[in-house]
Amino acid sequence: MQNPLGLDDISGRIDTATGGLRMRRLRQHDWSRRLVRETEVSANDLIWPIFVREGDGNDQPVPSMPGVFRMSVARCVEAARAARDLGIPVIALFPYTEGTRRDEMGSEAFNPGNLVCRACRAIKETVPQIGIMTDVALDPYTSHGHDGILVDGRIDNDRSVEALMRQALVQAEAGCDIVGPSDMMDGRVALIRQALDAAGLRDTLIMSYSAKYASAFYGPFRDAVGSGGILKGDKRTYQMDFGNADEALREATQDLAEGADMIMVKPGMPYLDIVSRLSRELGMPTFAYQTSGEYAMIMAAAGNGWLDGDKAMMESLAAFKRAGAAGTLTYFAPRVAEALGRR
Ligand code: PBG
Repeated sequence: MQNPLGLDDISGRIDTATGGLRMRRLRQHDWSRRLVRETEVSANDLIWPIFVREGDGNDQPVPSMPGVFRMSVARCVEAARAARDLGIPVIALFPYTEGTRRDEMGSEAFNPGNLVCRACRAIKETVPQIGIMTDVALDPYTSHGHDGILVDGRIDNDRSVEALMRQALVQAEAGCDIVGPSDMMDGRVALIRQALDAAGLRDTLIMSYSAKYASAFYGPFRDAVGSGGILKGDKRTYQMDFGNADEALREATQDLAEGADMIMVKPGMPYLDIVSRLSRELGMPTFAYQTSGEYAMIMAAAGNGWLDGDKAMMESLAAFKRAGAAGTLTYFAPRVAEALGRR
């Protein structure tokens, strides 16, 4: 075939231009692509967030998160067993709290018999092989939906930290392995570490939500935990401004100095630059949270037939790993693990 520009020896010219390095050569076969692949997601990279609810009824669907359910403690134990069998190392528990159990102070957070604590005990008893992470923040328990305590209309940092310490303690005493402070108060990692150590809970790990941005991508989660309609205002006085990156480095550096064992970036996909920067510059296990909003976007597009949901899911998980994440919190966790198992 005559080439349209009438140039002769196209192949020779290309070899001259590329120096003979034809990048497509390695992409020809499935085997050669597999051979040179730089990163690969495994079930070991997954943390599965699940929603616990009171009672022993059926799973309740979360409308804005197709495929995600609020489950009774007994069903959470089954989920933990399924996760273990799929090779998922950790599940993260989040409570759905009805309005009647919420108050100004979020005091249900440090009730040793609260839903999360009961779920921890039940899972530890039946499925001791799986790691349990719990969220340290008051928003599932406050009547105003904020992560801290309001004093004269402002979130009071130090009173909030006091409550968060008590919350972390009851969770650790109930057997959780990792506490995850997601509240973004100053000094909370240090004081939680001190409180745990003083109680003889030296082995409880802290995964700090270090770079947690005030984000629109948490919307469906707030529905799932029952905070959606009740949040007054927004969280911009404690969660980070999405224009900032250097600040994320300062936050994470400080959390590590205060005793965090692992750090996290949240949301995930819109903040891969932050994941990459923290993991490379700090060299500590860095996690990404693929938030409810990110999950909802993929599910909604897939539900409309606008993209292939399974493929988008696997690609998104690969992106976190490639950016340097040690692992990802994702509502897709069991689906990813199943897909990996089929390969
Ligand atoms: C609570 C908390 C939130 C999420 C995890 N822990 C919501 C928020 O800060 O408003 C979001 C999780 C998600 O969107 O999947 N502080």
